[in-house]
Amino acid sequence: TANSAALGGLAIPATTQAAEAATLTILYGSQTGNAKGVASKLKEQAQARGLAVNLVNMADYKPNSLKKEKFLTIVVSTYGEGEPPEDAENLHEFLGSKKAPKLDGVKVAVLGLGDSSYEFFCQTAIDFETRLQNLGATAIVSRADLDVDYDSLAADWINTALDAFEPDLKAQSSNSAQVIPMTTFGSTATTSQYTKQNPFNAELALVQKITGRDSTKDVRHVEISLEDSGITYTAGDSLGVYFLNDEALVDELLVLTGNDAETQVSVGDETLPLRQALIEKLELTQSYPGFVEKYALATNNAELLALAADKAAMREFIEPRQIFDIVRQYPATIAAQTLADCARKLQARLYSIASSQSEVEEEVHLTVGIVEFEAFGSQHLGGCSGYLAHRAEAGSKVKVFIEHNDNFRLPANPDTAVIMVGPGTGIAPFRAFLQERDSQGASGKNWLFFGNPHFTQDFLYQVEIQAYLKSGLLTHCDVAFSRDQAEKVYVQDKLRLQGAQVFAWLEQGAHFYICGDANRMAKDVHQALIEIIQTHGGQSAEEAEQYLKTLRSANRYQKDVY
Ligand code: 2AM
Repeated sequence: TANSAALGGLAIPATTQAAEAATLTILYGSQTGNAKGVASKLKEQAQARGLAVNLVNMADYKPNSLKKEKFLTIVVSTYGEGEPPEDAENLHEFLGSKKAPKLDGVKVAVLGLGDSSYEFFCQTAIDFETRLQNLGATAIVSRADLDVDYDSLAADWINTALDAFEPDLKAQSSNSAQVIPMTTFGSTATTSQYTKQNPFNAELALVQKITGRDSTKDVRHVEISLEDSGITYTAGDSLGVYFLNDEALVDELLVLTGNDAETQVSVGDETLPLRQALIEKLELTQSYPGFVEKYALATNNAELLALAADKAAMREFIEPRQIFDIVRQYPATIAAQTLADCARKLQARLYSIASSQSEVEEEVHLTVGIVEFEAFGSQHLGGCSGYLAHRAEAGSKVKVFIEHNDNFRLPANPDTAVIMVGPGTGIAPFRAFLQERDSQGASGKNWLFFGNPHFTQDFLYQVEIQAYLKSGLLTHCDVAFSRDQAEKVYVQDKLRLQGAQVFAWLEQGAHFYICGDANRMAKDVHQALIEIIQTHGGQSAEEAEQYLKTLRSANRYQKDVY
């Protein structure tokens, strides 16, 4: 078993060691599956070298097992404001607590995944490494903090890390006759041939504004055809969508940098004309420090070079700007390839799927909030949402792939009740859940909490929701239209008002889901839940936290937040 293999790594002299290999334990903490994917690659590569590995989701890892580890790799992503993925929360906290064991002599390697557009880039990986080192562990290779375009760098890091671990692991297992790879990890989810690297070229069937004319928001209901793709998805999954940058802005960029549209450049392992690369392959909206640093060097611009040396000033500079704005503000003639090298590869945007295939079959629906703002004297659009709402047309092609999310799933038992909290575009996966429960003929009760600024302008999917209330599929629906009265009313206020019943549902086994804004809403809803459990369950704040931890371990408290 995995445990006995881990024990084989204890400080027993190699000569007396049984025929068991020293094991490399790989712990991953993943939010959308990227860290899990990299950890799985690490496992494959280690096995290819004949090393024994034990790959474990941090959520399933018993912190007490740490005492038995000799060789440990952490692959963990960061989200929100430097926070660990949910699956990593407990171990992250444990390692920083007094309960954590000494780890003298343990060799560790930490790989972080993140997005450098955000301030606390790879913070969780930094925390893990620091905490492990504070406990006495030694980093066997330097930590890598990888940005969204991590594939090839992750492959390099895996090689470096395994080169470092291999001699030790082999020395410790030298008298074992045969290395039996540990396989505690097995995911059998069916996957189509289409992936992030090889997306399906789908037809955009419909983009329809579902907020009112006078709304402060522009939210679109999007329907994409998956016909003939063989793609399947489950309610709770997300869709990755590639988009095209704005041609007018790309043409302006060519002029500003003194470039010709047709100059060939290489991006990754492709060679293509610069204009096409800028439209299809490179990130030009979401800014991040790496662009400023490279562009500063390429243009030898003193102001930009100064920013590269000042983290806080850099944040303040990139926050309101898209990449376009930076080049507009500091135009300079640079070589085509240099320009291409400044930008990172365009990443697909992920949207929570708003449909169930039991209802829409070979289609996938999304609920897309259009990012639109005025800055530096011009109208700015988000990369993907701007494309979907303003540049694409019905019939346009979009490259898509499914990102499975096993951390956001309806209860396996259709009789189990669910409580869904999804203000704004957070409604999306709950539309999928309701379609799914409807087609299952599920007898479990369904309770939806929805919020948005105004009833008349922003009640997304109002007709459908009212029909579900009428049919009885929706047991309750509580709405918080925040700006329809003098005092703001939010979903968490509605939850508190219904506290007794919410607690009763939880006690009866209901699953609780939150989707939407991570930084404020999800935290406030969590806090409201804590208070509800205190008030209606007669528990202390600590007990209430523990209550939610227990729910989470049982997969009864799930979040899809961004
Ligand atoms: P507001 O914009 O009127 O403040 C979806 O965006 C809805 O979430 C809006 O009604 C918005 O209200 C509301 N909202 C804003 N901050 C929130 C928070 N911290 N918790 C819950 N809802 C919030």
